[in-house]
Amino acid sequence: MAFFTHQVCRSFSSSALRSVAIKHVVIIGGGQMGAGIAQVAATTGHQVTLVDTSDTILKKSVKGVEASLKRVVKKKYADKPEAGEAFIQKALQNISTSTDTASAVQSTDLVLEAIVENLQIKQDLFTGLDKVAPEHTIFASNTSSLPITDIASATTRLDRFGGLHFFNPVPMMKLVEVIGTSATSQETFDSLLNFGKALGKTTVSCKDTPGFIVNRLLIPYMMEAIRLHERGHGSKEDIDIAMKLGAGYPMGPFELMDYVGLDTVKFIMDGWSKMDPNNPIFAQSELLNKLAAEGKFGKKTGEGFYKSK
Ligand code: 3HC
Repeated sequence: MAFFTHQVCRSFSSSALRSVAIKHVVIIGGGQMGAGIAQVAATTGHQVTLVDTSDTILKKSVKGVEASLKRVVKKKYADKPEAGEAFIQKALQNISTSTDTASAVQSTDLVLEAIVENLQIKQDLFTGLDKVAPEHTIFASNTSSLPITDIASATTRLDRFGGLHFFNPVPMMKLVEVIGTSATSQETFDSLLNFGKALGKTTVSCKDTPGFIVNRLLIPYMMEAIRLHERGHGSKEDIDIAMKLGAGYPMGPFELMDYVGLDTVKFIMDGWSKMDPNNPIFAQSELLNKLAAEGKFGKKTGEGFYKSK
């Protein structure tokens, strides 16, 4: 995925920077997460540029944002349709799109990446951006499981690099994990925390450890649900019902994996089992591998553990 087409070289001083009030944000990657983040940033008054590789993808992203905004409005402005329409239009006006990464980042406060979970691709993207983005610009990744330190290592702005991890569906989920590496400056970390709060989210501070907080707990839980089922100790349906009614979760683990994407779950597990192959928590699942090999990724492909409704 070549996000970087134009290269403008510029040299920067390494002066320490004050906490940046983030007003303009460039989001790279118009998939479900990127579009969701763009939506939330736009509805909270930020100027957003959404970047992807083609206009076709970006049109689809904006259509998704529009559909999601309508769902929000249906609930929030049930008795005020005109105010609801104004809310949608205002949010959409705050979003512009671009396929030209280099010019999109020319005057932005934050670049937030939500592209494919591939370390090399993310590093290549940020190496290019590092050369053209203004000195004060903070870089952040929405990675689910890759070390922020490894992504940041491709740049010269280690002090202005952190993680902002959002949850699907972004407009509904109230949390943002803010991740600081050992090199992230306090100013950068504070800027990211404040940005998360300005989006109306609750923030938690995380260290740059595998899966941060949520995925470190959630992924092993989902994997244990598969293993329980593989051992013949419960049907998928019963496990889902049990966790919804017995533990108060909004979705059971199989429903949630279909929602998040089996490709994403597998990607995270593959990385972790490679990192720590003898840890039983990170053991591979035959069923997950089989479904992923068949392209059954869940909601996004129409079938995962279940056929989508
Ligand atoms: N945009 C806007 N509004 C939405 C929405 C979206 N994408 N999704 C749901 N809503 C709102 C709408 O108002 C909707 O009403 P509508 O259907 O009439 O439009 C309302 O929520 C109810 O939605 P649903 O009837 O579809 O179902 P629920 O009441 O169960 O809510 C849910 C949906 C919020 C997704 C809920 O099921 C839930 O919280 N599920 C768990 C999600 C979760 O755990 N996410 C984290 C995954 S891990 C992750 O993302 C990290 C990554 O790194 C892997």
